Amino acid sequence: MNNNQRPTALIMLFGATGDLANRKLYPSLYRLYKKGKITERFAVIGVARRPLTQEQFKSNIKDSVLSAIKDVDEAQLDTFVTHFTYHSHDVSNKSSYAELKALAEEMDAEYGLEGNRLFYLAMAPEFFGPITQHLKAEGLTDTNGYKRVIIEKPFGTDYETAEKLNNMIRASFEEEEIYRIDHYLGKEMVQNIEVIRFSNMMFEPLWNNRYISNIQITSSETLGVEERGRYYDKSGALKDMVQNHMLQMVALLAMEPPIKLTTDEVRSEKVRALRSLRNYSEEEVLKNFVRGQYGEGTVGDTVVADYRKEPMVDPNSNTETFVAGRLKFDNFRWAGVPFYIRTGKSMAAKSTKIVVQFKDIPMNLYYNPTEELSPNLLVIHIQPDEGVTLHLNVRKSGQKGLTTPIRLSYSNKSVDRMNTPEAYEKLMYDCMRGDATNFTHWDEVALSWKFVDSISKAWKEKSDTDFPNYKAGTMGPKKADDLLAEDGNEWWPIEDFDIETCS
Ligand code: BG6
Repeated sequence: MNNNQRPTALIMLFGATGDLANRKLYPSLYRLYKKGKITERFAVIGVARRPLTQEQFKSNIKDSVLSAIKDVDEAQLDTFVTHFTYHSHDVSNKSSYAELKALAEEMDAEYGLEGNRLFYLAMAPEFFGPITQHLKAEGLTDTNGYKRVIIEKPFGTDYETAEKLNNMIRASFEEEEIYRIDHYLGKEMVQNIEVIRFSNMMFEPLWNNRYISNIQITSSETLGVEERGRYYDKSGALKDMVQNHMLQMVALLAMEPPIKLTTDEVRSEKVRALRSLRNYSEEEVLKNFVRGQYGEGTVGDTVVADYRKEPMVDPNSNTETFVAGRLKFDNFRWAGVPFYIRTGKSMAAKSTKIVVQFKDIPMNLYYNPTEELSPNLLVIHIQPDEGVTLHLNVRKSGQKGLTTPIRLSYSNKSVDRMNTPEAYEKLMYDCMRGDATNFTHWDEVALSWKFVDSISKAWKEKSDTDFPNYKAGTMGPKKADDLLAEDGNEWWPIEDFDIETCS
């Protein structure tokens, strides 16, 4: 491995006692360490408000690693946690930053970090601006090595707030130094979309409005809002999932091939795709988007109460917990092809899948006795299964003129089950190596917000919802099915597309 593959970094983790740090970040760092992707030359300063002793902090990290990873080498874990220091911090207090700076310099010298600094803001978004401003004002960003900042979502609550936030951060960091997280971009099969498209002669020439009938992207969750009611009731599924994760998948499916795999080239193709996404008028929003909110129902064996009865949720809330939409592109490749998206909470299954439906054969010589000839489908299984399935028609054994549908499947996990890295592991490693390809550029964020803002605005003007309008444990409101039926399409039943049962 060259040095770029084994980067050095001082990570200043703001929000070090939070849920994200404990569930994702510490286990991810440990995996990188265990695999030798980061060496002894890394250090972490955990920053949070509450007072903790160094021992308490280290023991929290150990617990978080042990609860996420099975095969932990305890001696190695003991060495791993020696790289961590805790700093109890008041984000608005100047002298607290001065202490942080002194500590950073100490750690830098002790671990030979060459001044490389990564500021990870896993905090409530209202702190992003003030922290980055203090980091610069108090000299923490004056360093001989690289300085980069990782920003967790949400990046603003609409275009205006996102722009304001971006300007604040840009006062301390250049665009190339800002790593905006969208954890879907760290998922193995989301990264695979480009590879499947651009490394297979059998797909790329067909990947357009001549051969594709429609594309469906579903990201359904079985969980409700749990303890996040305060945030979620102000956000809703549109801002929580569509503005970021869903539109990122749409952009990867719709983009033109980049001329090179560099960060700039890939991101500029995604930006171009988002630029050609049609921004709807209010009237068009109401025709092309459906919102839902769950009411009492059963998810698996669990009885789920109305969304409006969840903790910290307004009992008269009109926040959507489900969104379905028909997206249209105004460009040569995609004119006339609907991209359908749907996402929601408390649904029937936890599943993220992309179904690419090819057009019907123009003249059908064969038929299937029980149903119409199935269209060819390419299913990209993002999670929990990871893989691809191709749906084809073949001759029904011994029966002239009859066909039977078959599925060819590849499961990423069965080949490489132990090694599929976690999204956060990949993203942290990318950031340390200076690879921003799988982070969102400001231009992508801006275009996504503008698209989403027109939907929120249209919904706000027309607040006469009939919520709740879907039962927990289902695949959403009927109107989401009607949306596809208007085009003569239907949602492919993702529950039947389990990769393990395909052959
Ligand atoms: C987060 C949203 O960004 O993504 C959550 O805030 C959602 O509400 C989560 O549950 C879904 O992520 P994943 O990886 O479980 O599909």
